[in-house]
Amino acid sequence: MRILVTGGAGFIGSHFARRLVAAGDDVVVLDKLTYAGSLANLHGVSHDFRGGDIVDPTGVAAAARGCDAIVNFAAETHVDRSISSGADFLRTNVVGVHTLLEEARTSELRFVHVSTDEVYGDLPPGRSSKEDDPLHPSSPYSAAKAGGDLLVLSFVRTHGVDALVTRGSNTYGPNQFPEKLLSLFITNALDGEPLPLYGDGRQIRDWLHVEDHCAGIELALRGGNAGEIYNIGGGEEVENREITERVLELTGTDESLIRRVDDRPGHDRRYSLDTAKLDSLGWEKRWTLAEGLPATVEWYRENRHWWEPIKRSDEFRAYYERQYAALLTE
Ligand code: NAD
Ligand code: TYD
Repeated sequence: MRILVTGGAGFIGSHFARRLVAAGDDVVVLDKLTYAGSLANLHGVSHDFRGGDIVDPTGVAAAARGCDAIVNFAAETHVDRSISSGADFLRTNVVGVHTLLEEARTSELRFVHVSTDEVYGDLPPGRSSKEDDPLHPSSPYSAAKAGGDLLVLSFVRTHGVDALVTRGSNTYGPNQFPEKLLSLFITNALDGEPLPLYGDGRQIRDWLHVEDHCAGIELALRGGNAGEIYNIGGGEEVENREITERVLELTGTDESLIRRVDDRPGHDRRYSLDTAKLDSLGWEKRWTLAEGLPATVEWYRENRHWWEPIKRSDEFRAYYERQYAALLTE
């Protein structure tokens, strides 16, 4: 197949592009290269790169020409940034998805939309979200993602587009922009910098290795049904304070680096996904957190050339100052 991977220069999209190329597919990447995207993530991946915005119908049509399917990873993805400024989240995560759906409709392409467990909102202990559960997004990020998901389902029903949605849980692994919990804390720990743990640190996330996430999306692309939603969960529910302690151990640092800081507004306590539907398509996870976390720490230890320029950049320093300066000096 020839597949358009939108957002393919980001964290998960670049792993997915690499996976498709290894499977023998032709890959076109359309990416705006925002602060989170980098061609370095696609090093060694043979692909046709198009710089552009998924909101722009002309650029999308040009990139999609000759393709059989679109897999959409392009998004604004960081909850904390959505709290301080949400406009780009609505533009890309809602209007951009609409543009891609119009292209899928007019060119009769399969469309896989990569979404998140955060659309379900937080869950009490003992429950896991199923695909037909109601949506209760808590942040501007997850609200915008939920909007994108609903647009996809509306295009299936109204226009008969061959589209489906995947909802993954918190993903970790190599090449994750160092603003999310694990990528930030691992790189901060390697530099001896403080780890700002929000609130009581007892929030639970369900950790999923990026390769397992991509395997799930690939299964949905090749064997999923139009109009369906597929949860992709790691099945590794861990409190933030516990995973932070594992990062300290693996980086050879100690508790003195942890800073308890004010909680994130609207912070979801717990996510958990029921993955029975994807399991029935034949999904098998390869990574446990016990193996994946040390391997990921090792990757960041050996690839300082990848993340140090990001953390030294003006954009990152300005973001870090805005997000953490007041929290860390309280
Ligand atoms: P990322 O932030 O690392 O990458 C996003 C990519 O999209 C970047 O390359 C960026 O340049 C590109 N992009 C942003 N706006 C664009 C636009 N308007 N037009 C074209 N390209 C644009 O994100 P990620 O962590 O790889 O996440 C990929 C997808 O997976 C997102 O849709 C996200 O919601 C979803 N997801 C992520 C996680 C996670 O833990 N990272 C979990 C579940 C779902
Ligand atoms: P994050 O990686 O931003 O993913 P999400 O908000 O999409 O789950 O955050 C994961 C968890 O870690 C979440 O409970 C918030 C918490 N967190 C911190 O405690 N400190 C931080 O500096 C960051 C970035 C996250």
